[in-house]
Amino acid sequence: AETATNYMPAESDLASLKVAAECCQACDLHRFANQMVFGEGPRDAKIVLVGEQPGDREDLEGRPFMGPAGQLLDECLAIAGIRRDEIYITNVVKHFKFTERGKRRLHKKPDSREIFACRPWLEAELAAIGPTMLVCLGATPAQALFGRDFRITTGRGSVQPTEWCQRTIATWHPAAILRMPDPTRKSQMTENLVSDLVTAVT
Ligand code: URA
Ligand code: SF4
Repeated sequence: AETATNYMPAESDLASLKVAAECCQACDLHRFANQMVFGEGPRDAKIVLVGEQPGDREDLEGRPFMGPAGQLLDECLAIAGIRRDEIYITNVVKHFKFTERGKRRLHKKPDSREIFACRPWLEAELAAIGPTMLVCLGATPAQALFGRDFRITTGRGSVQPTEWCQRTIATWHPAAILRMPDPTRKSQMTENLVSDLVTAVT
């Protein structure tokens, strides 16, 4: 199957990677989305956050974590004392995947083929930055970086080395917190996310 490797530019800096990713057709997602949403942040960021894929708002704006999940993330970052403009935020998959329900576009999880196809972009971003701390938001990035058996429920909050960063940690995806119906559980998960971000910055 085709992967993003076929679209890699000669230069491996973040700006060149982003321009090249805009032309990526390694999976079908580019056909339906408005635009490719690349990672964002300084090239010397110490901390990299990795989400799953852009949502409806991100697809319209062309920037990661701008919708409801991004707002919750921003609040948690602020509580943890992390400035958003000092970290790099990206996603495992760079195009929005959705099903149309009336005039709404409902997020669909990327499948293993799309994750595999898009992975070279993430690896190139991580190689360009070389973060000292890598934070996986939810199961999709956690399984992409720790392996398919990883479970957020049992594995979150502990710092482990991966191929990409000596200090890699997984935590709840903010969208999973927003979807949680039980208010007690919801506030627990929010506290977990904040404390995992504090771990990341210390
Ligand atoms: N959820 C993600 O995983 N990434 C985004 O950019 C937005 C929502
Ligand atoms: Fe390429 Fe990733 Fe977009 Fe698929 S989702 S077309 S692999 S950038």
